[in-house]
Amino acid sequence: MTMTYPIYFYRAAHSAMIKQLISFHTLPLSNLKALSNSRFEDKYLDLMSSNYEMSVTEPFIDSIASLNSVLKDAEKEASRTFDTDSTLFICSGSTVSNQIAVAASCSSESRIIIQKGLHQSFHFTINSTKVKKKTYIDDIEIDETTGKTSLNVKAMLDEIICAEENGNGYDVAIINSQTYEGIQQKLDEILPLLLKHGPSLKKIIIDEAWGAWSNFSTSLSRHCAIDAAKNLRNKYEVDFVVTHSAHKSLFACRQASYLHCIGGEKAIEKLKQMRYRLHTTSPNYRHLTSLDLAQCHARIEGRMFSDRAEANARLLKKLVKEKLTFFSVISSPKADSIAQQNYATSDETKVWLNISELNITGRRLREVLYKEHNIYISRYTESCVLFNIHFGITQENVITLIRALQNVEEKNKWCIGQLREDTISEYFVVPYPPGVPIVVPGERISKVRLQKIKKCIASGVSMKLL
Ligand SMILES: Cc1ncc(COP(=O)(O)O)c(C=O)c1O
Repeated sequence: MTMTYPIYFYRAAHSAMIKQLISFHTLPLSNLKALSNSRFEDKYLDLMSSNYEMSVTEPFIDSIASLNSVLKDAEKEASRTFDTDSTLFICSGSTVSNQIAVAASCSSESRIIIQKGLHQSFHFTINSTKVKKKTYIDDIEIDETTGKTSLNVKAMLDEIICAEENGNGYDVAIINSQTYEGIQQKLDEILPLLLKHGPSLKKIIIDEAWGAWSNFSTSLSRHCAIDAAKNLRNKYEVDFVVTHSAHKSLFACRQASYLHCIGGEKAIEKLKQMRYRLHTTSPNYRHLTSLDLAQCHARIEGRMFSDRAEANARLLKKLVKEKLTFFSVISSPKADSIAQQNYATSDETKVWLNISELNITGRRLREVLYKEHNIYISRYTESCVLFNIHFGITQENVITLIRALQNVEEKNKWCIGQLREDTISEYFVVPYPPGVPIVVPGERISKVRLQKIKKCIASGVSMKLL
């Protein structure tokens, strides 16, 4: 008799692991094949196939608790790569980087202005930090279909100006740089505005979790946080802290994060102190090593890989047009114009596809892609899905995705797209259960009926066209 052990997480993780998923969500390092043309391939193969679970500390290898040699050198190199005054390695996720940033920048005397559309790590930390004043600025919705939002620059500026006029200006601002949905704030335009109108501002924290890669992109780098901060640091004597979830877009392990500072000695020292207090004292060597490799890879091959990501995103859009009938790339001039008005632009590597012409919901499509095609996506709505074309996506992966989507179309042969509002139906449209037609042949397809059909599909009911 074979023993079955109560190892539930192991079984689930093992089943997911053997699927060798292509992730159109994040974590380039989950696809080592994407490094096949890289000068770093052998280093990464070694990192991922050898046993880097070690407990050795100083004097053999220095740790986060006492930085004396190699970790210090590695962080210096990362600082050179990103062109910062200081870069720290964090291997407990950007959640902890953000906590460190707040702890180092805020005190009980702080007046903080905060973008509401920030990650929870900021909100929970700020909520439990005693400060003199905190004001949240709601985001603006850019596009209802995809849920894209942007910093409301005008509202933030108005609040900053009003506070200055009342003699109690904000000294700390916390904002986002990019969203997973594909909005990039033009920080080269926003930061000068905030500083011009907010002379009391002394510290600005910028969450660029999704955008470490874009610092190496031809089209996006000029709007990135570090570049913008460097141009302002001397003029305004402000300390900038920028956090990067390295694992989301570079070849780094999950939880690997960079905590950057463009600022003075005091600010850098405070960040180091806070890292010492808040970071685990047992950092994972594979994570730390991956942060070192990822910074060097980004410096040497970042441009090549960001060009490739952007080219693969264009390829995906082209193939959707050429090879698919009912999927379409979402592009909205109205959303682009709202983005422009709010000092934002689109990151074209986040490709949204409209699926409202198919008889499948985003949720169901995600399940089908995972179970039948070993493809992983994360973000979807009822009528659209998001594919993130990151450093770990190859041309072959894009072609595999298109084949999978063709298969989805094949299996969902009839689709909502065949039922046009205000036309006469050739078909029975039958939800099962209960098997009672919503539309019969010869009947006019009214708006109400079409909505009813879409509602049924959204609720997971199987729909037949006969
Ligand atoms: C904008 C943003 N900031 C910070 C984080 C936290 O990063 P991590 O998962 O590395 O802790 C996330 C996570 O998804 C995020 O989306």
